[in-house]
Amino acid sequence: MSAHSLTVIDNRTGKRYEIPIKYGSYPCYGASINAIDLRQIKASSEDFGLLTYDPGYTNTASCKSSVTFLDGEKGILRYRGYPIEQLAEKSTFIETAYLLLNGELPNKEQLLKWRSDITEHFFIHENIKKLIDNFCHDAHPMGTLVGTVGALSTFYPEAKNINDPACIHQQICRLIGKMPTLAAFAYRHSRGLRYNYPDEQLSYIGNFMNMLWKASELKYQPDPIFRKAIDVLFILHADHEQNCSTSAMRAVASSNADPFSATSAAIAALYGPRHGGANEAVLTMLGEIGSVDAVPEFIQSVKSGKGEKLMGFGHRVYKSYDPRAKICKKLANDVFAVTGVNPLLEIALELERIALQDDYFISRNLYPNVDFYSGLIYQAMGFPVGMFPVLFAIARTAGWAAQWKELLDDPDNKIARPRQIYCGQDARDYIPIDQR
Ligand code: SDX
Repeated sequence: MSAHSLTVIDNRTGKRYEIPIKYGSYPCYGASINAIDLRQIKASSEDFGLLTYDPGYTNTASCKSSVTFLDGEKGILRYRGYPIEQLAEKSTFIETAYLLLNGELPNKEQLLKWRSDITEHFFIHENIKKLIDNFCHDAHPMGTLVGTVGALSTFYPEAKNINDPACIHQQICRLIGKMPTLAAFAYRHSRGLRYNYPDEQLSYIGNFMNMLWKASELKYQPDPIFRKAIDVLFILHADHEQNCSTSAMRAVASSNADPFSATSAAIAALYGPRHGGANEAVLTMLGEIGSVDAVPEFIQSVKSGKGEKLMGFGHRVYKSYDPRAKICKKLANDVFAVTGVNPLLEIALELERIALQDDYFISRNLYPNVDFYSGLIYQAMGFPVGMFPVLFAIARTAGWAAQWKELLDDPDNKIARPRQIYCGQDARDYIPIDQR
């Protein structure tokens, strides 16, 4: 009997089973058993065998990954081993995207080549622009993004060649290069403004700002404080292991679908207010609370369990302060020094102050997550709330792409097809309608 195993006794039959325990990089985190090893445990020879029941996959590892490491108890987040705090302070989003995709920080030549590969794909096909033109004027930009990213698969049918490394690289460059353009065009369309075409002389973030905010000036000059703030926010949002949208990306890609179709599904998952839509929901919540005086009443309504959530709080993995929220809170001061303090900040700070000392939230390990402060920064920079999840999607495209690439290289890569616990009717005969 191996020391690294479970001995399971099925009390229904008295049988004993040895089930091996497997480990990831950290024995203290990620020790697991292969779920399929439970199928041998049967009450009788006709029995299907044991399944695990895990709604929302709260304790199920869907894959092995070396892209991102989280420790929810200690509030640790690392991309390829590098702490998020150091990357936020010293790196750029494009360099971080390279790290996520390639596993190492680029040298100067690699970074120049990477930037050039991305810049080459800033432009979108004119027919995609016409597609954006035909969305309702008040279409939510996330809905536009779901549609336009999915449509990219029709413009680049070669993206189906998922076994060709050069093709994979090209599609990843297209995705990362075009997301800001699609997002900016969706924004401009929702404002009834003409599109600002990409400026390949600007940085990735500078060009994004150019496409969003260039007015009548000949050459757009990105504000350096805003450019840095958006760069840091994109680094913070670039990846987060097997979150809902990344799991959607992997599930769709597991059928060998092209990366544009898979990314469209990931954007759709991110759209939900439980996930990437939370930063938009935080601003709506703060606006509805309206004043610091109304905070205690709101907290009581959340605690009453009527279903209202404290948006921007809580996390499936972090059972302490989300390290990204700490960085966002500091970043807010830099932006507010330029824009003036967002008046909703004092409501947010009061919500946090009360929640962090209230047993209802403490006992449920509810702390601010990345979405609690990011929306305040985006709003202060002039983004409408509908653009908040779009900004999240641009950044997370780097992580979705890295996880997709890792899935393609994974020898355990299988089509995602969970089982179920059937609770429905037993076999029965059809009843003619005149007998019902
Ligand atoms: C992101 O997964 C990721 O990594 C996501 C993300 C990423 O980078 O990809 O980090 C980005 O999505 C951050 C999360 C943004 N979402 C929100 O801020 C929405 C508000 N938060 C909740 O909806 C909730 O906390 C979730 C969805 C984030 C996590 O939900 P879980 O892990 O399924 O926890 P749960 O719903 O089982 O809640 C456990 C308890 C429940 O109370 P009881 O039934 O035990 O009495 O905590 C309560 C919940 O009601 N609870 C909350 C709450 N979140 C959980 N109560 C009040 N306010 C909240 N925000």
